[in-house]
Amino acid sequence: MAKVTFLSGETIPLEMHKVRMVQKVNLLPVEDRLDRMQEAGFNTFLLKNRDVFLDMLTDSGVNAMSENQYAAMMQADDSYAGSETYYRLEAVLQDMFGLEHFLPAHQGRACENIIAQTLVKPGSVALMNYHFTTTAAHILRNGGTLEEIIIDEGRSIQSTHPFKGNLDIAKLNEAIARLGRENISFVRIEAGTNLVGGQPVSVENMRAVSQICRTAGIPVVYDASLLADNLYFIKTREAEFADVSLRDITREIASLMDVIYFSARKLGSSRGGGILTSDTKLFAQMRELIPLFEGFLTYGGMSVREMEALTVGLRETLDLDVINQTPIFVEAMCNELIAKGIPVVTPPGGLGCHVDAGAFCDHIPQSKYPSGALASALYIASGVRGMERGTLSEARNKDGTERLADMELVRLAIPKRVYTYSQVKYTADRLAWLFENRHLIGGLAFEEEPSVLRFFFGRLKPVGDWPEKLATQFRKDFGESL
Ligand SMILES: Cc1ncc(COP(=O)(O)O)c(C=O)c1O
Repeated sequence: MAKVTFLSGETIPLEMHKVRMVQKVNLLPVEDRLDRMQEAGFNTFLLKNRDVFLDMLTDSGVNAMSENQYAAMMQADDSYAGSETYYRLEAVLQDMFGLEHFLPAHQGRACENIIAQTLVKPGSVALMNYHFTTTAAHILRNGGTLEEIIIDEGRSIQSTHPFKGNLDIAKLNEAIARLGRENISFVRIEAGTNLVGGQPVSVENMRAVSQICRTAGIPVVYDASLLADNLYFIKTREAEFADVSLRDITREIASLMDVIYFSARKLGSSRGGGILTSDTKLFAQMRELIPLFEGFLTYGGMSVREMEALTVGLRETLDLDVINQTPIFVEAMCNELIAKGIPVVTPPGGLGCHVDAGAFCDHIPQSKYPSGALASALYIASGVRGMERGTLSEARNKDGTERLADMELVRLAIPKRVYTYSQVKYTADRLAWLFENRHLIGGLAFEEEPSVLRFFFGRLKPVGDWPEKLATQFRKDFGESL
C-alpha cells in the first residue's frame, strides 16, 4: 500500500498489488437482508456467506494469499512424520523469531489450550494487557482467572496514545506484590490488542514488562496473532525503530518473551498455528500435549499445503508493502467516519475499523446489546457483515449476571488485500445513513444462550419491530438502489 497525493491534493491509499483471481459477491435487496438477519437470529456469525456482500466479520483465515503462497502449496511434502514441509516452516520461524523450538497446532486457540494446560494451576492468575475471548475461556477452563493491566488509555475509546495496548507498569508491579509471584501463571502480552480495537504495544513497553517478569521469575507469553499490524505501528509510531528492519524488530520482540504463539489464520495469512520457545523444560511439557490434542509433531493438525502457504506468508509479513494495507485502509475508513461525525476507536488501529456502538446507540442499554443491534442493523442497511465486540462477547459472571463490556464496539475487519477502496467507502456511506437513522435501531434479547462463547452461536430476537421499520426507511430513502 502507498499513500499517494492526487492532482486535487487529496491523499488516498493506493493498492500496491494487482488482483488476478476474483470471487463474485451478492448484494441482496434490503427486504431479503432483513429476512436473512431474522433467520440468523440477529447474530452475524449465523449468516450464510452467500447472503453477505462484504464480509468484515474477521480477517481470520480469510486474508488474500499471494501467488507465491499458492505456488508453494503445490510443493508440499505430504507425510505423517518428518515431512520436508515441516522443516521448511520451522526454519523460517526460527529465522524470524530466533527461538529454538517450534510446536505446530491447528489454530491459535489450540495453542492457548496447550499453554493454559501447561502453565495455569487452579487458583492462579494470568496477567495480561487485555483478554481475548478464547484465551480467557482456556484460562478459566483450567481453573485460573485473569486480570487485565492495560494502561487506562487502552480502555478509553478516543485517545491520541500511539500504543493503547501497552501494559501499565505500575499495575504490573502492584499485582505481583499483591498476588505473589507463585500465584501468577504468566504475563501475557497480546500484539495488536484485538478487543480494544486492534491497538498496538510498543517495544519500549515490552522491554519494561519483560525485565520485571524475568526478575520475578514469571513467564512472559506473547500472542503474536496480530503481530503484522503491530509491526507496522512500531515502524511508523516508535521513533527508535523507523530505520530498523521488520525482521530485526521481530527478533527484538522475541528476545523479550519466554513463549510465543500465533494463529496462522491471522499471522502469515494461512491457516493453523504454532508455539515457539527456547525454554527446553517448558517445550518438553508442552510437546507431550501436541500428539494428544493436535496431531504428530511435524504437522500438529495443519495440512501440509497450509504449512507451505504459511512459510511463505511469514516471510511476506516482513515486507511493509504487504502488511500495511489493513492499517492504512482502517485509517481511511476511520477518517471517513470521523468526518461524518460517527464515533470510532481512535487512534485507528489494525485489524479493522471499530465503531463505538455505545455512543452510536446511546439510547440502548448495555443489557440490550447495543453492539449486537448495530451489527444487525448494518447488515440490513448494507449487506456488510461486521462483528459484535461488546457485552454479547463477554461471558456471564458466575452468579449469572451480565458482565458489561468496557467498550461496546462493532468491528469492521479489513482482511488483508481482499477489499478495494470503493468498498471501504461504500461501507462508510451506509454507516453514515444508519447514523442519521440511529433512533430507529432498538435492542436485542437472547432466545437461545449457549453457556460457553455464547456470541458464536447464540440466537437473539429484536426488542420490538425496529428491524422492519429500518428496512422500510431504507427503501424510502434509497428507492430502487441496493
Ligand atoms: C489475538 C488473538 N489471539 C488468539 C486468537 C485465536 O486464534 P484462532 O482463531 O486461530 O483459534 C485470535 C483469533 O481471532 C486472536 O485475534
